[in-house]
Amino acid sequence: SHPGWPAKLGPVRVAGGTVTLRPVRVRDAAAWSRIRTADRAHLEPWEPSGEGSWNSRHHISSWPTLCSGLKSEARKGHMLPMVIEVDGEFCGQITTGNIVRGALRSAWIGYWVSKDVNGKGVATAALALGLDHCFGPVGLHRVEATVRPENLASQAVLRNVGFREEGLLYKYLDVDGEWRDHKLVAITSGEVQGTVVDRLVRAGRAAWA
Ligand code: ACO
Repeated sequence: SHPGWPAKLGPVRVAGGTVTLRPVRVRDAAAWSRIRTADRAHLEPWEPSGEGSWNSRHHISSWPTLCSGLKSEARKGHMLPMVIEVDGEFCGQITTGNIVRGALRSAWIGYWVSKDVNGKGVATAALALGLDHCFGPVGLHRVEATVRPENLASQAVLRNVGFREEGLLYKYLDVDGEWRDHKLVAITSGEVQGTVVDRLVRAGRAAWA
C-alpha cells in the first residue's frame, strides 16, 4: 500500500451539503452511469475525448473495467481516484493522477460534479480536501491542474483554493473532439498557510462538519 491510499476525507460543510471523499468502488456503476449520461451537455465540453459514443462509454457496463483500472493504478501509488459524496450520495469524482515521487513529488488533479448540485461550493470543498491530502499523508510538494480558458466555473474553483496561473499550453489536450489550449495552474505545499480547508473556513466558504 502507498501513503495516503486508501483514505476517507472530510466531512466539510458547504451550501450544497456535507462533502466527503472516498475511493471509487465497483458498486458506483449505477450512480456514475445515470449522472454521466444525464449531464452529458454539462460535462462533454471540458472532458478528454474517448473512443465510441458518449452513451456507450458511460453505460453501466463500462464502469467495472474503468473502476478496476483506476484501483490498480491507486495500488501502484500512481493515482488517487476518489468519489465526491454530498450527504452520503455519489455526486462526482476527483482524481489525482501521474503521481511522481523522488525529487519531483508532483501530480495533477481533476474533478467533475453533478449539475444538480452545481454552484453550491461542492467542487471547491472537494478540491480543498484533495489538496490537503496530497500535501499531508501523500507527501507531495506540488499539484498542478489544466483547464480550458473557456471554463470559467472551474477556474473560479481553482482560484478559490489558491492555484496560481503558470502559463498557456498550446493545443494541449484532445477535449470534445479537438486539440484545445489549456491554462496550466499549480500550487506548492509551501504556499498553503495551515490547510486549504482552513483557508475556506476563514473565507466563510465552508465549515467543519
Ligand atoms: N462564469 C464565471 N464563474 C462561474 C460560472 C460562470 N459561467 N459558473 C460558475 N461560476 C463560479 C461560481 O460563482 C463559483 O465561484 P465562487 O465560489 O468564487 O462564487 C464557482 O464557479 C463554482 O464553485 P463550486 O460551487 O465550488 O463548483 P461546483 O460544485 O459548481 O463545480 C465544476 C464546478 C467542477 C466546474 C462543475 O461545474 C463541473 O463538473 N463542470 C463540468 C466538468 C468540468 O468542467 N470539470 C473541471 C475540468 S478542469 C479540471 O478538472 C482541473
